[in-house]
Amino acid sequence: MEKYLYKVTAAGRVNLIGEHVDYCGGKVLPAALSFRNTVYVRPNGTDKINLAWTDLPEKYSLEIGKLESYRHLKHAKYQAGCAHLWEKAGHKLVGCDMLHECTVPFGSGLSSSAAIEVSTIAALAAVAGEEADPVEIALVAQKAEIEYAGVSCGIMDQYVSANGKAGCAIRLDCKTLEREYVPVHLGGCALVIANCNKPHALVESKYNERRAEVEEALALIKKVKPISCLADLTPADFAEVGKVLHGKIYDRAKHVVEECDRVNRAVVAMKEGRMEELGALLNASHASLKDLYEVTGKELDSLAAAAQAHPACLGSRMTGAGFGGCTVSLVKHEGVEDFKKFVAERYTRETGYPVTFYETEIGDGITVEKLD
Ligand code: GLA
Repeated sequence: MEKYLYKVTAAGRVNLIGEHVDYCGGKVLPAALSFRNTVYVRPNGTDKINLAWTDLPEKYSLEIGKLESYRHLKHAKYQAGCAHLWEKAGHKLVGCDMLHECTVPFGSGLSSSAAIEVSTIAALAAVAGEEADPVEIALVAQKAEIEYAGVSCGIMDQYVSANGKAGCAIRLDCKTLEREYVPVHLGGCALVIANCNKPHALVESKYNERRAEVEEALALIKKVKPISCLADLTPADFAEVGKVLHGKIYDRAKHVVEECDRVNRAVVAMKEGRMEELGALLNASHASLKDLYEVTGKELDSLAAAAQAHPACLGSRMTGAGFGGCTVSLVKHEGVEDFKKFVAERYTRETGYPVTFYETEIGDGITVEKLD
């Protein structure tokens, strides 16, 4: 490989619990993965950001003065959006060559786009000689996802991609951005991540539709109770004020309130080593995402049900936005190999898709290495 000045990486993520609550001011419990996007970067003395990939033939040359005009580019829109919004946030851009390499599987629901966005901004900062704040990087990366990729996402993915810590999940309060690193001690269990391999379709539009629904719920509840976000409600509050909601809007809000409660209980269960309870919370989360929030689909439901049916599995749920992508399961170490065989066989029989199990660890957020 040619010589570059920095090697910058950011992580993909798995969310343990707290799904579809980040944009409602809820708490989430994601962990960064050793799957990551790497950017090799060097200054090039021009006013262009040149992009190349180790595994794609495309090459792009983005003019720093025209970064707003690249929204249509399939691969380069993330980098263009990040560079544009980073500059708009008051940071200096310098012309550079970037070589991208991504080990987060695309379309898996493990946040390859957050890893790309966060590592791009961290690389732009490094090559400009700036020591950037990972929280600010995450916030700008989220803006880029919203404005350039058209997904009105919350802050979870970009936050953990930037701020993750090996061996820990982050309990992140998405309302205040307060965080706590929670060591992932699973008392004799492993986390198994499995991809249902159903091609993603309509994720963006369905995602944005859910966001609109919970905003409608919030507006209706605000008429009877002064809250700033749905996560302000406890299940007991919801038993009262939920009466102003009906049909699907009621279901969506109920999911959010109960999922927030499950996150609190999951953190305590994990800290106290109560794995059975953690597993039961994962199962309850999946059921709610299936029945109340309706973001699972036949394949994720089949995969989670197969996992939940294995005796070594304490709990299993979809992770990420849903509509395809991955499940995360809590499985006793000694049963992992048999679990994989059992799940793969049953899932493929039911759906016709293969399962992919991933080997990955809980890794760090942004890393920056100067190359000599
Ligand atoms: C996607 C979004 C996140 C979050 C999850 C669902 O990954 O990018 O902000 O909303 O879906 O929990």
